[in-house]
Amino acid sequence: MNKTRKVSFSGIQPSGNITLGNYMGALRNWPSYQDEYDCVYCVVDEHAITVRQDPTALRHHAMELFAQLIATGIDPEKSILFIQSHVPAHAELGWALNCYTMFGELSRMIQFKEKSASHADNVNAGLFTYPTLMAADILLYQTDIVPVGEDQRQHVELTRDIAQRFNGIYGDVFTLPEAVIPKVGARVMSLTEPTKKMSKSAENENSYVLVMDSPDAIMRKFKRAVTDSDACVRKSPEKPGVSNLIDIYCAATGESVEEVERRFEGKGYGNFKPAVGEAVVELLRPVREETERLMADKGELERLYRLGAQKASAVAERTLSKVHKKLGFLPR
Ligand code: AMP
Ligand code: TRP
Repeated sequence: MNKTRKVSFSGIQPSGNITLGNYMGALRNWPSYQDEYDCVYCVVDEHAITVRQDPTALRHHAMELFAQLIATGIDPEKSILFIQSHVPAHAELGWALNCYTMFGELSRMIQFKEKSASHADNVNAGLFTYPTLMAADILLYQTDIVPVGEDQRQHVELTRDIAQRFNGIYGDVFTLPEAVIPKVGARVMSLTEPTKKMSKSAENENSYVLVMDSPDAIMRKFKRAVTDSDACVRKSPEKPGVSNLIDIYCAATGESVEEVERRFEGKGYGNFKPAVGEAVVELLRPVREETERLMADKGELERLYRLGAQKASAVAERTLSKVHKKLGFLPR
């Protein structure tokens, strides 16, 4: 592909309401690349159906997530912002890449192991081959960087391996992508079980903060967050609860761990927890308000996602036809 600029690509599943973890680990970093890179961001609904979804809820979540991405600062006219199922090239390249990905490689994926344990009644083939579809998402756009949270590093590395294998056989077809993981906020932990990552699919709703939560709900969740009995605001591996709150506070305010520890020295958790809550309320407020404003005009959101699919298809089709030619498929 004749690229004048490098490409940033990332995706997020519309499998529920997005959390503070999604926001800090991924979303809020995406708009920052718009000046230097060609940006392509995607609501990955095809990935979401690897776990059972209620169709009405899925439609709502996909639309709201699309609005939230705009609300975080992605400009849908300047960047390419679209819905995965609207661009058939993803599923098509995903199929081809299945034939260049090993059973053993997919078996080693941590997310597969975790999700097959948590959805033991539905360990479907899509859950297993999920990373090859993700590789297709990334490789279709000749992507250079993939801004994601820590948990996606392994999938991006597999994508590189698949691309390298394919290029090794057929010549330079794909750009090799690299994961870009933020220094702070790459792994936001649960507020009730701080050794697990914060997840929108967790059962206990006090364990996560949603981007769309009201200020009251956010304050309540932080006041209830699990800490420990020594009441000292200091980061340490023995204090996962407080360490997580300190990280969240730093990621929300831009302050360093040392600054935060110094300011809250001798103040106890009664002061610290509401301060974290307030910082997060202010961080999320503009995104929530802008999302609500955008959701009031569904017609405009539909116009924008169609525009995105058109622009995405033009790029994706070019890579797909190159792949088909290399594979020996007859031209359409
Ligand atoms: P998902 O919700 O699985 O589609 O994830 C979307 C993006 O959010 C990915 O880049 C993840 O790495 C990131 N992410 C998900 N959960 C967290 C978390 N608890 N902390 C930081 N990043 C996260
Ligand atoms: N697998 C990612 C997650 O669970 C979502 C995703 C799908 C993605 N396709 C992608 C992320 C491409 C980055 C690039 O979070």
